Amino acid sequence: MKRTEIINLLIQNIDAKKYLEIGVSDGTNFSNVKCDYKIGVDPSTETSANFHLTSDEFFERNEETFDVIFVDGLHHADQVYRDVMNSLKVLNEGGYIVCHDLNPVEEQHQIIPYQGGAWNGDCWKAFVMLRMERDDLEMYTVDADCGCGIITRGSQELLNLSYPMTYHYLDQNRKELLNLISPEEFLSKFVDNKQYGLSELLHNYVYDPENAENNFSLGLYYDGIGQTASALSYYLRCAERSNDDLLKYECLIRGAMCFDKQGTRNFTVKSLLLHTLALCPHRPEGYYMMSRFHEKENKDGSWNESYTIASIGLKVADLNPPPLRTDVDYPGEYALHFRKALTSWHCGLCEESRDLFLELLDKYEMTPSFRQIAIDNLKNMNVNIKPFAVYTKDKFDRLKVKFDGAENISENYSEAYQDMFVLTMLNGKRNGTYLEVGAGNAFYGNNTALLEKEFGWKGVALDVDEGFVTAHTNERSNPCLLRDATKINYVPFLNGLDFPNEIDYLQLDCDPPEVTYKILLSMPFDTHKFAVITYEHDYYCDETKSFQEKSRKYLESYGYVRVVNNISPDDSRPYEDWWVHPDLVSSNILNQLLDISDETKKAEKYILIK
Ligand SMILES: C[S@@+](CC[C@H](N)C(=O)[O-])C[C@H]1O[C@@H](n2cnc3c(N)ncnc32)[C@H](O)[C@@H]1O
Repeated sequence: MKRTEIINLLIQNIDAKKYLEIGVSDGTNFSNVKCDYKIGVDPSTETSANFHLTSDEFFERNEETFDVIFVDGLHHADQVYRDVMNSLKVLNEGGYIVCHDLNPVEEQHQIIPYQGGAWNGDCWKAFVMLRMERDDLEMYTVDADCGCGIITRGSQELLNLSYPMTYHYLDQNRKELLNLISPEEFLSKFVDNKQYGLSELLHNYVYDPENAENNFSLGLYYDGIGQTASALSYYLRCAERSNDDLLKYECLIRGAMCFDKQGTRNFTVKSLLLHTLALCPHRPEGYYMMSRFHEKENKDGSWNESYTIASIGLKVADLNPPPLRTDVDYPGEYALHFRKALTSWHCGLCEESRDLFLELLDKYEMTPSFRQIAIDNLKNMNVNIKPFAVYTKDKFDRLKVKFDGAENISENYSEAYQDMFVLTMLNGKRNGTYLEVGAGNAFYGNNTALLEKEFGWKGVALDVDEGFVTAHTNERSNPCLLRDATKINYVPFLNGLDFPNEIDYLQLDCDPPEVTYKILLSMPFDTHKFAVITYEHDYYCDETKSFQEKSRKYLESYGYVRVVNNISPDDSRPYEDWWVHPDLVSSNILNQLLDISDETKKAEKYILIK
C-alpha cells in the first residue's frame, strides 16, 4: 500500500473537497491524488507546486482550510512538528493529516543532515513528540511506504518516554512509539467502517465459498491493499462461479489489471482480455485495455494490433455504457477515439491521426493528461493546435488599435480574440481584475491566460468540470474554483474575495445559452461595474433564437454599450457580443471599434486591418 492510496482512501472516506500537500517534489503523489481542489506547496521552483514558498511562509499567508493535508516537506523533526501544528489550525472538522517517512528501517536513513542514499529524515521524532503532548489527537502510523502517519482530532493516551529519543529506542519500540498498524487495520479502522471489515468478508467466504459475490468482495479487498496475487485468485473464482456476464466481465478486467501490475504474465493478461471481448463485445473497456496492452507489448506489428482493436471497439461498442461496479481506469467516451488517434500515427496513417486528435481536442472534455498528450502529438506533427483564430506577433502592424504592450505579445490564447479585445478596450492595462465564468482550459482557448501571464492581472475563474479546475490549479497562478456558477450569490462571493466594485473584465461563457443567460441575470450589476464584458449567446446554435436579444436588452438596461455584435471565430458562427461600461473605458477607443451592424463578424477581421 502506498501513501497515495492511503490519502485517496481517506479523501473518499470523508468525501474531502480540499487537499493540501506540503512538499510536492516531482508531483508523483500530488498528481495522483483524487480531490476536487488541490494545493501544493514547495519552495523549489522546479516543482509544479501552486505556491513556491516554504511551508512556514505558506501558513503565514494562508487563509484557507483543508480536509486532508499531507505533510511531506523538509524532513527535519522541528519542521515536521511545525508543519503538523500549523496544519491542525487549518484542518476542517473530521479531516486528516497524513505524514510521510515516519518509520526509517536503518539508522542512517534518519540522520540529519542528509548523507546521501535512501533517507527518511527524523520526522518520526516529531510524531513521537505529538504522541507525548497532544491527548486531543488520535494518531496511527500505517506500516507501509516508509511509514504513513495519520492524525485526526480525537483522543489518545499520552506516551510517557523513559529514554531519550534515539534510533535504538525507536527500533526497539516501533509499535508503541509510532502506534503502528497494518494496512489491513488501516482499512478496517478508516475505510471499511461503512462496509465490511476483512474478518467479516472471510467469515462470509468460509460460510459460502461458492458464492460469487463473496469471492468478488474479497478480490476487491485484497486489490485495495495492493495484494494483487490474492485479489486475482478471488476474481477468477468469482468469474467461474457467477451467472452474471457483466460481473464475469468485470472480474476478468480486474484480473488482467492485477496480472498487469505484477508485470510478469503478459500472455495471461492477453488471454483474460480476449475473454472480456468474447463475453461483452459491446462494452468498451476490454477494447481499450487490449489496445493499450498491444502498445505496451511493443513487438513487431503491435501498433497495428493496437489500432485494429481500437477501431473495432469504436464500431461495435457502446462508448458510454452504464458504469461497472468499480473503476477500471476507463477514461470515458473519448478513450477509444484517443487510442485510434494515437495508434494510427504509428501505423503511418498520419492524416487520420491529426484529424482525430484535433477532433478530440474540439469535442471532448479529456483529463489534462490526455489533453496534453493530444497537444504534444499534434505539435510533433507540426500542426497548429489552435484550429481557431490565433493572434501572432507578425500581425502587430495590422492591429486596428495598437494598445500599450501589444508589441510584446507573441501569441494569444483566446478562441476568437477575446483577450486582445479586452486589452484593446483598456489600452493594455496592467494588473487588472477579472471574473471568468466558465473557465474551460487553462490556456488552450482561454480568455484570461494572456491577461494573467503577460499583463499581471488577478482574478478568479469558475467551472463545474473537475478536469478543467485541476488543470487550472496546477498550471495557472490565479485560482479556478469548482463551483456551479448558477448557484452563487455573487455580492457576498465577490466581497469575500476582496474584489473591488469596479472589475475590469467579466467573461460569461457557459454553454448552453440558457445557462449563460441565467448566470447573466444573477450578476451583481446593482453593486458592481465591469469595464468589459464578453457574452456568449451562441445565436448560431440557439434553437430558440431568443437569448441574443434578451441578453442585449438586459445589459442595455444597466447602461452597458455593445461595441460589437455577432462575433464569430470564423465567417459563419455568430456566438458572442462584446460590451463595455462607458464610465470605465475611453470613448476614443470605443468609437474606433464600434460596429453593431447585423452581419456576422469574424473576430480576426474585426480586430485587424485587412
Ligand atoms: C519527499 S519530497 C516530497 C514528495 C511528494 N510529497 C510525493 O509524495 O511525491 C520533499 C519535498 O519537500 C520540499 N521542501 C523542502 N523544504 C520545504 C519546506 N520548508 N516547505 C515545503 N516543502 C519543502 C522539497 O523541495 C521536496 O520537493
